[in-house]
Amino acid sequence: MSAIKTIGVLTSGGDAPGMNAALRAVVRTGIYHGLKVMGIRKGYNGLINGDITEMSLRSVSDIIHRGGTVLQTARCPEFKTEEGIKKAVSMAKVFGIDALVVIGGDGSYKGARELSKAGIGVVGLPGTIDNDIGCSEYTIGYDTAMNTVQDAIDKIRDTAYSHERCSVLEVMGRHAGYIALNVGIAGGAEAVLLPEKAFDINKDIVKPIIEGRNRGKKHYVIIVAEGVGGAIEIAKEIQEKTGIEARATILGHIQRGGSPTVYDRVMASMMGARATEILKNGIVNRIVSLKDNKIVDIEINEALDMKKSIDDGMIELSRILAL
Ligand code: ADP
Ligand code: F6P
Repeated sequence: MSAIKTIGVLTSGGDAPGMNAALRAVVRTGIYHGLKVMGIRKGYNGLINGDITEMSLRSVSDIIHRGGTVLQTARCPEFKTEEGIKKAVSMAKVFGIDALVVIGGDGSYKGARELSKAGIGVVGLPGTIDNDIGCSEYTIGYDTAMNTVQDAIDKIRDTAYSHERCSVLEVMGRHAGYIALNVGIAGGAEAVLLPEKAFDINKDIVKPIIEGRNRGKKHYVIIVAEGVGGAIEIAKEIQEKTGIEARATILGHIQRGGSPTVYDRVMASMMGARATEILKNGIVNRIVSLKDNKIVDIEINEALDMKKSIDDGMIELSRILAL
């Protein structure tokens, strides 16, 4: 018999489209399995401060299509302290929370692990646009963010073509280049600069642009991952060295918002459902992940030790296709 009767759910770290779909799934499948579900606002801050209310089937109505997170989110420095964890555990007890579902990134999982050590069972769901969680092939929000960037590239391409310019587009991803590499391929970029791969601006950007121009190319799109940064300086250098007008666009937080794609909604729903299935069986301290294209759950310490790396074959493909 499961000892878990009441679960809490929170979203933590950067918001991501699809977090609402995950929350909805946790609440509805949780109630379906007979669990009481408490919604915690503003990440670990809400757990420390008791910003907690019971969720009902209807409290998650009309949110599946909305970006962001209706529970709101936060980065909570206090939670990184022993005192913060103690306060959170004590507040969880006040509200009778036996276990917690944390929708967030790697940082949020580290916080969740501290909670589990202090006796509150946890289940993590991968929520970040960056796709930078070592144990999962996919993170909730990644697909929507890539589609938002893709839409921007298509628009930028129209104006770059009209002016025969080079557009340098800086995209999010924190220290990871997953968004950059995929949109580089999907958007037909001339070059993609990734934090995972060393590059030489002359060999990898200037020369291909000049060679392209000599073959009659009319415009150029260069994708710079946030982890490389410096899009404005890179655009200046391209203009100086090629004589082709270059413009930099730093897409910024537009990439984090917007209505989630079908893929993000469905994956978030399936992952949310997996979380309550685990908890209803009395199991805790697991991270729900995508592995070999299947939803699995992994022990939290093992999950936090896992690393993944960007596919060298994809990097090579992006170079070949840019020829
Ligand atoms: P993400 O979850 O998207 O990776 P952050 O790295 O900002 O985002 O982490 C979100 C929150 O998780 C932090 O503000 C903090 O409250 C908590 N957290 C992160 N790292 C730790 C840690 N080592 N110990 C305890 N809590 C942590
Ligand atoms: O983790 C998601 C993300 O959008 C990263 O891509 C980016 O580096 C970071 O969050 C930005 O954080 P903030 O919204 O706090 O500026």
